[in-house]
Amino acid sequence: MEHILSAQQFDKASLLETLDQASKMDKILAKGGSDIARGKILGALFYEPSTRTRLSFETAMLRLGGNVISETDVHFSSITKGEVLPDTIRMVSGYADIIAMRSKNKGDAALAAEYSSVPVLNAGDGAGEHPTQGLLDLYTIYKEFPNKFDKEPLNVTFVGDLKYGRTVHSLCTLLRNFEGFKLNFIAPDALQLPEKYRESQDSFGEDLSSSVLQEADIIYDTRIQSERFESQAEYEKYKGVYVFDAGKVNQMKSSAILMHPLPRVNEITQEVDTLPQAAYFRQARNGVPVRMALIAQCLGLV
Ligand code: CP
Repeated sequence: MEHILSAQQFDKASLLETLDQASKMDKILAKGGSDIARGKILGALFYEPSTRTRLSFETAMLRLGGNVISETDVHFSSITKGEVLPDTIRMVSGYADIIAMRSKNKGDAALAAEYSSVPVLNAGDGAGEHPTQGLLDLYTIYKEFPNKFDKEPLNVTFVGDLKYGRTVHSLCTLLRNFEGFKLNFIAPDALQLPEKYRESQDSFGEDLSSSVLQEADIIYDTRIQSERFESQAEYEKYKGVYVFDAGKVNQMKSSAILMHPLPRVNEITQEVDTLPQAAYFRQARNGVPVRMALIAQCLGLV
């Protein structure tokens, strides 16, 4: 049984296969969907807030012809009455054929997989990882740079909260499977990328300078993760530290793209949305074909 728990479980061959399957799902979506998962049920367990991940998982299952059962608020879950995660998972895996789970604790998805009799997909575990987001981010780069992906050097510059930003942890891990990605990490010292995700060839800095903006092919901006700080005062120190406005984005190459896993708070102004570099809404849409591909893989349908 295949679970999706971490970006570390993928190698280049499995990533290329997933990208190819996501492209096929894009074509299926253009025709309105398929029914290869008819009779299958996705259990969507979301114990932290989500818009994109939950809705795109649910859309993906519905577009494959399957059905969905959901827990969308931990306050209405028996977890609030003291039920432990292993019990919840043992039970839900008796109802559903596959589970997508988001929780606030790093390692919860791996714990769920130990007790599940069906595949578990990590939809974000605290400040740990968000591998399905990393895969849709990788698919976005693959689609936006069809002639350069894995062929020519591309500078990927991550900006923002790289300590708590779980999507960064997953995407940088996935990119290391390919040739030619030069990774650059711009963050306040206290929010820099954790050691375990670093490699010796990486570049690090704190200043979102004109040269950083001009050299990047891909800027991957992230929100300062207010919910992970020990106090509001600590969060306030970093809130608004980097803001992409039209002046900044116009310094990027015209061929470059600005990505963001969303939600954004104040780190990209709305005037940027109409600039050619703004790729974040296309990126969010890619969650559907990628999650269709992952559900189909995990259910053994492809
Ligand atoms: N990118 C992402 O995980 O968004 P949601 O928190 O809305 O699911």
